[in-house]
Amino acid sequence: MKTFDITIPVVEAGFDELTPQQQQLVTLARKATYRSYAPYSKFSVGAAILLSNGEIVTGSNQENAAYPSGLCAERTAAFYAHATYPEARFTSIAIAARGTDGNELPDPISPCGACRQALLEYEKLAGGPVEVMLAGKNRIMIFPSVSSTLPYCFSEF
Ligand code: THU
Repeated sequence: MKTFDITIPVVEAGFDELTPQQQQLVTLARKATYRSYAPYSKFSVGAAILLSNGEIVTGSNQENAAYPSGLCAERTAAFYAHATYPEARFTSIAIAARGTDGNELPDPISPCGACRQALLEYEKLAGGPVEVMLAGKNRIMIFPSVSSTLPYCFSEF
């Protein structure tokens, strides 16, 4: 028997430290929060995905009176991206959120397990890492890949 740690590399950055392309993706994720449909939670999430063909697809959480029928911003964006551009690879994703007071949260939120699993599928399809940027008002956390956000994950291929 042996014990070992699984470690995750993370970069913490300020908006000004990002590349122009990263800044654009974070800005679009922030803007997407305003297209959220969240009458129940009043928690607005936005996601922006950069594709290998240069397109950027955004999404926001879409809630439903039957709560489980709603969908997170990340999967809304990911499913639309792959349904629209099935030949394109995912390159990176930015995620931002505003709380019930309408303001961006000081610290980033982290995608739920189901979204990480869904994004992992597209990372596998891409054949390379999909950068994950979690944007808060005060700091941005950058993970080098989806798989790094889902250690010891299930994958069939
Ligand atoms: N939500 C997202 O869209 N993404 C996340 O990463 C976490 C949660 C949504 C689901 C629901 O509409 C609201 O935020 C509250 O959970």
